[in-house]
Amino acid sequence: MQFDFHNPTRLVFGAGTLSRLGELARPLGQRALVVTGGGSVKRAGTFERALSSLAEAGVTVFECDGIEPNPRISSVKRGASTARDNHCDLVVALGGGSVMDAAKVIAAAALYDGDPWDMIFHGQPQPHIPTQALPLITVPTLAATGSEMNGTAVISNAERKEKSFVMAPCLYPRIALLDPELTLSVPPDQTAYGVCDLITHITESYFNGSGDTPIQDRFAEGVIITAMEYGPKAVADGRDLNARTQLQWAATVALNGWISSGSGSAGYPVHMIEHTVSALHDITHAAGLAIINPAWMRFAANANPAKFVQFAERIFGLTASGPDDLACALAGIDRFETFLKFIGCPTRFSDLGIDDRLIETYAKETLRIVHDDQGRLPARPAMSEADIVSVLR
Ligand code: NZQ
Ligand code: ZN
Repeated sequence: MQFDFHNPTRLVFGAGTLSRLGELARPLGQRALVVTGGGSVKRAGTFERALSSLAEAGVTVFECDGIEPNPRISSVKRGASTARDNHCDLVVALGGGSVMDAAKVIAAAALYDGDPWDMIFHGQPQPHIPTQALPLITVPTLAATGSEMNGTAVISNAERKEKSFVMAPCLYPRIALLDPELTLSVPPDQTAYGVCDLITHITESYFNGSGDTPIQDRFAEGVIITAMEYGPKAVADGRDLNARTQLQWAATVALNGWISSGSGSAGYPVHMIEHTVSALHDITHAAGLAIINPAWMRFAANANPAKFVQFAERIFGLTASGPDDLACALAGIDRFETFLKFIGCPTRFSDLGIDDRLIETYAKETLRIVHDDQGRLPARPAMSEADIVSVLR
């Protein structure tokens, strides 16, 4: 096992910590671009509280609102212009993963003279990996993506019908300010999708990893079990602060590099396929994951049952006859799919009104964006176009 783990983001966690935003922001900058979405932070009062904390600390605020779910590159360009025109020296993201991702690319685009879409990985070779960005503070209002503490952003291009990612060290937020109270207003469907997203981040490295990783496996299983315990509580009662607190922490640790370190993960196939489907249908990210992940698991379990047997035994308490007990592996996946349905996630494309006409297109487009030297999707096992089509069917 080998890895090189470095996460430079300072993590400030706890109910009520939003009041510290100004104090934390002031050493980083004096003119902040505050990035928000379609209005949820204003309706919840979060925006007002953030502004008064920044004002008390002497930070001047400029706003970029209206970032859409599946954030568009056009909004990134608008935000970068606002940052440049007002000489902003700091970006604050106040919202879900879409707002945080847009804010990351805005922070880099504000210091880049070219087209920000150059930064997004939309087919090899990647034109421009950003090397500098304005300092960023993330204040997540939804427990899901883990974007608050990683160096990744996922951006869509509506004209090109593409959705893809950028990863760069300069995109790590300087500070992630996690106040679980801000997530109390998340509706049940988005709460459930967040649970699915965070669990899928973990299963991607858990099942696509290689070798003997007992510590990583136990970390992964612990976070999945915690999310499965508190997720239904937060869906049933959105005001349950303890459940919200556990989910917020689970979502962050699921994708800040800690759990995947040393796993030798071959890739994130479920995410890569889902991004293509989202690009064409503008669906909610984790609604797509809930449909694709169990289907992908069944495909992967046939090739490598042992890890799926471990999942079935440790997550669901099933008993296998041995590491090759495919029936037990598949029973664990069925239980996982039942959990997703129980919290309110779709598990078939038809649940979202999507038919099977574009399945070949999703497969081709996924492979156009990411492939190994044999033209397959990096995963364990690597996937051909026919494999992707069969999973989606
Ligand atoms: O836009 P507003 O009005 O803020 O409403 C949002 C949006 O409608 C709402 N919401 C957020 N916080 C709320 C709230 N509603 C009530 N109360 C609150 N406190 O929820 C809706 C969805 O928001 P969005 O930010 O789109 O959701 P999420 O956090 O799931 O982010 C999804 C995006 O992140 C990308 C996805 O592809 C997708 O574009 N991802 C980013 C990753 C990363 N950077 O590491 C990894 C993920 O795998 C994912 O790909
Ligand atoms: Zn995700």
